[in-house]
Amino acid sequence: MINLSRRPRRNRKSAGIRDLVQETTLQVSDFIYPMFLQDGTNQKVEVKSMPGIYRFSLDNLLEELKEVTDLGIRAIDLFPNYPESRKDRFASESYNEDTFYLKAITAIKERFPELVIMTDVAMDPYSSDGHDGLVENGKILNDATLDILGKMSLAQARAGADILGPSDMMDGRVGYIRKHLDDNGFTDVSIMSYSAKYASAFYGPFRDALESAPKFGDKKTYQMSPANKREALLEAQLDFAEGADMLMVKPALSYLDIISLLDQNFDIPIAAYNVSGEYAMIKAASLNGWLDGERAMMEVLMSIRRAGAKCILTYFAKEAAVILNR
Ligand code: PBG
Repeated sequence: MINLSRRPRRNRKSAGIRDLVQETTLQVSDFIYPMFLQDGTNQKVEVKSMPGIYRFSLDNLLEELKEVTDLGIRAIDLFPNYPESRKDRFASESYNEDTFYLKAITAIKERFPELVIMTDVAMDPYSSDGHDGLVENGKILNDATLDILGKMSLAQARAGADILGPSDMMDGRVGYIRKHLDDNGFTDVSIMSYSAKYASAFYGPFRDALESAPKFGDKKTYQMSPANKREALLEAQLDFAEGADMLMVKPALSYLDIISLLDQNFDIPIAAYNVSGEYAMIKAASLNGWLDGERAMMEVLMSIRRAGAKCILTYFAKEAAVILNR
């Protein structure tokens, strides 16, 4: 008999004990479910690179939301798909009060008053250049973009959004948007800043969903280099100082260290975006029978929570909720 005073396996000997010592938990109320909206009626179009994820017209989206809310999901992040014909250099459609996206927010709020609605503040779905900022002579302008973001934010707040998600990594956007909202009486509207958003290959399927890929170049002059960590602290410090209510890291899986870093350094909630490519990888492998998709999904979501994210934006929200509700 070997004499061991420490036998860590004792704390794993039964399901009851394992549950007692479980350090991290995952709840349906941790999820924000990203959803895609398109114009028209009776539309439900599957996103090719995201099996199980659809673009809905408003009527079908409201139906879907009944199911989503019945599962206990309490927050969504709504993204619009605009046809090329509605896009221009200035993303003007983003603050046109009559546009289907803003009207949908109001309609959803009316039907589901308790549901938290988050919106995305960035030019790309509305921009004929497919970039997150105003393009001039091949350059992405920073300060001129802020003016457009201000108008977009105010329009989304007026439509009924609870949380705005500035996602373009322009300098000074959080402070600019906060002031613009406050000056117009929307002091209650929250900002979840995409603080550390990396120039990542994992956004590919999302750009398929929105048909919003950049028409030239890439996003490296505004999104961060995957090589950098200290810079994430600087971005988070600025967003914190400018009034962000929550800080987000995106993508999640290749950046668990960044989630942990922000969690250790800031006393406001940290969110993580489990992005489209991360969803697609697990779906593809599990549809091929190469791994157990359900287990991989739960492991990924738990790891994001363990790293320090309080809430998770994830396309798995519905599927994970079904399992958590069992
Ligand atoms: C728009 C935006 C993107 C995502 C969320 N908001 C794409 C991008 O920056 O190119 C990606 C989300 C995902 O991949 O799931 N600025």
